[in-house]
Amino acid sequence: MSEELTLETLVALAKRRGFVYPTSEIYGGLASSYDYGPLGVELLRNIRSLWWREMVNKRFDMVGIDSQILLHPQTWVASGHVSSFTDPLVEDKVTNQRYRADHLIEAWIAQNAGVDDVVVEELTVPEMAEFIAKHQITSPDGNEVTPPREFNILFETAIGVIAGEKSKVYLRGETAQGIFSNFKQVLDSTRVKLPFGIAQIGKSFRNEITTGQFVFRTLEFEQAEIEYFFDPRETDWRDLFAQWQAAMWSFVVDKLGVNPDNLRWRQHTDKERSHYSEDTYDLDYNFPFGFKELWGIAYRTDYDLRQHIEHSGKKLEYLNQTSGERFVPHVIEPALGINRVFLMLLADAYWEDTANNRTVLRFKPSLAPYKVAVFPLLKNKPDLVAKAEAIFADLTDHFATTWDERGNIGKRYYYQDEIGTPFCVTVDFDTLADNTVTVRDRDTTEQVRVNVDQLVTYLREQIG
Ligand code: GAP
Repeated sequence: MSEELTLETLVALAKRRGFVYPTSEIYGGLASSYDYGPLGVELLRNIRSLWWREMVNKRFDMVGIDSQILLHPQTWVASGHVSSFTDPLVEDKVTNQRYRADHLIEAWIAQNAGVDDVVVEELTVPEMAEFIAKHQITSPDGNEVTPPREFNILFETAIGVIAGEKSKVYLRGETAQGIFSNFKQVLDSTRVKLPFGIAQIGKSFRNEITTGQFVFRTLEFEQAEIEYFFDPRETDWRDLFAQWQAAMWSFVVDKLGVNPDNLRWRQHTDKERSHYSEDTYDLDYNFPFGFKELWGIAYRTDYDLRQHIEHSGKKLEYLNQTSGERFVPHVIEPALGINRVFLMLLADAYWEDTANNRTVLRFKPSLAPYKVAVFPLLKNKPDLVAKAEAIFADLTDHFATTWDERGNIGKRYYYQDEIGTPFCVTVDFDTLADNTVTVRDRDTTEQVRVNVDQLVTYLREQIG
């Protein structure tokens, strides 16, 4: 990441190059909502499949599910979301614009360092009200705000089964609850045994008050969550917690290729921790707006399964085949946001190469939206184009490959650098004579001649 990288620079690049667009732009957009363009969708897919491969496919103790976004509404009563999934909300008394009280306080502290520093995460809503009144904190427009109140961020909708009758349901606020409600079915239908985990990737929805953080905080987002079940008498939760923390760190540093200097662990304070958690850590990334949560890990004990037992009347227990004992397992939950990984990768890969007057997204080659771009040197030479098309067709069997015949080669390199394509292959007149192409490396800009017959092997070695 470049030192002076701002969020605005990333937002502009993301839009200019087709990673992320403001949603419904033709209608003036929708707050905290974004669409992913042709480049963004490839990067998202790469993130998801890498996570799934590492966390599910490569482990003998993990399985996956894909539950509904609309679950039975009792799910959210049992989980506690209906009663306590809230954010502290204030309203600008003039514009009626809504803000999160804790975020206004954080911004005030950042501007008035040392005056009255408090741990914002630890403040209760009445304490926030007191702090705002004491320091006469205003909205960003300079207007007085209402006293903070708890605002439930669960999205409500309705299903109409019978004409005229509608029943309230919720868009899921986390993918986790679909895992807990399927716990028994997974036990009964597979051969898993403790300790084991169930993973899920999917959309979650929250009626977030905060705007302006790009894809970091959106109303609709994608989570990749794991509920890892274990017997707390046989496995010390601290050991398991530490193992998962190590797996999370290694995924971000080794698999995603992120600079570890931009990462830190932060333990939640007692007051800040969610109602269901015995211990929580956030793996924070140094986004352009500071260190913020990328990935959370919580020891949820047997809280959720017990809540669902109480509300459903079903025995959500594990049977120990050896002792014949039935009990409710405990759970450790690593919960990741795919869109935050996306934003982190853009920020971490961003590089202003001033020596070469270019902007480069230095993605790990295996994560780049396209691994290789194929260029015919000239688009009006049928022999060159036909040869380049044949090479393109061959490469697409092995790598995500793109094609470009517009403008001169320099412009094509410039464009591919900005979208992070690690290798460009140019087909020129020598190719027709000796069956070699120029392969240009994104990071070094060095060029080598490679025989077309060796091209897949060469690129595979480079991409890893
Ligand atoms: N099941 C636990 C849970 O949902 P969380 O910390 O609220 O915990 C997990 O969410 C992850 O989901 C976060 O670490 C973050 O990466 C992502 N996330 C949460 N809210 C988000 C939002 N509004 N927009 C984008 N990502 C979000």
